[in-house]
Amino acid sequence: MIHPDTKLRSAGSIGLGVFATRDIPKGTIVWVLDSLDQQLDASRVASIGEPIAPMIQRYAYQNSTGNWILCWDHARFINHSCRANAISTGWDFDLAVEDIAAGTQITNDYGCLNINDPFECLCGAPGCRGVIRGSDFDTMAAYWDARVSETLEKTLSVSQPLWSLLPNPLEVQHTAATGGPPPSIRFHQVNNDHPTETAQRL
Ligand SMILES: C[S@@+](CC[C@H](N)C(=O)[O-])C[C@H]1O[C@@H](n2cnc3c(N)ncnc32)[C@H](O)[C@@H]1O
Ligand SMILES: [Zn+2]
Repeated sequence: MIHPDTKLRSAGSIGLGVFATRDIPKGTIVWVLDSLDQQLDASRVASIGEPIAPMIQRYAYQNSTGNWILCWDHARFINHSCRANAISTGWDFDLAVEDIAAGTQITNDYGCLNINDPFECLCGAPGCRGVIRGSDFDTMAAYWDARVSETLEKTLSVSQPLWSLLPNPLEVQHTAATGGPPPSIRFHQVNNDHPTETAQRL
């Protein structure tokens, strides 16, 4: 579920995007996988033809098992930025890694979504990678993990409207309170050594 202080509106040439309607401080969970999000196995997706198949390719992402996750709410409209203000964690939630002012677009990094087809990035951010590829997972994971680690402590001191949806709140709280390393985003890399994480939670 996407943070309640968000809305869908035009993001210009790339279509719609998700924007903050109020200030969302660094450390806020801005999206969490919830029980209404659909999980579709790869064989089912392979057998779905037009006109649904392109929608799945556009709006769903693959988890570590290769299954497709289709978010039921406007979370599925979050765009990519190479300077994303929300970063996916090794848990099934995205964290604001900077203060997000009201009116700002919430973005994440598609490099961790197991994308099959590289796409040309139009984010316009300084240092834009130009083309976003599935292999970005390998080059970017350590950076994403570090951003999450340095942000995690703040999760305990900001308002968290999505907290009740966490499947493992005590684990998150303990990790944040002790400064322990959060699980790596690599938990979500397709065909990793920990393939059941997401599947078990749904
Ligand atoms: C999950 S949708 C995001 C919502 C999309 N803007 C829309 O209105 O349908 C993913 C698609 O948005 C576009 N997109 C998102 N971020 C982009 C970016 N940084 N550069 C270019 N296209 C982007 C691409 O077409 C991508 O396939
Ligand atoms: Zn970019």
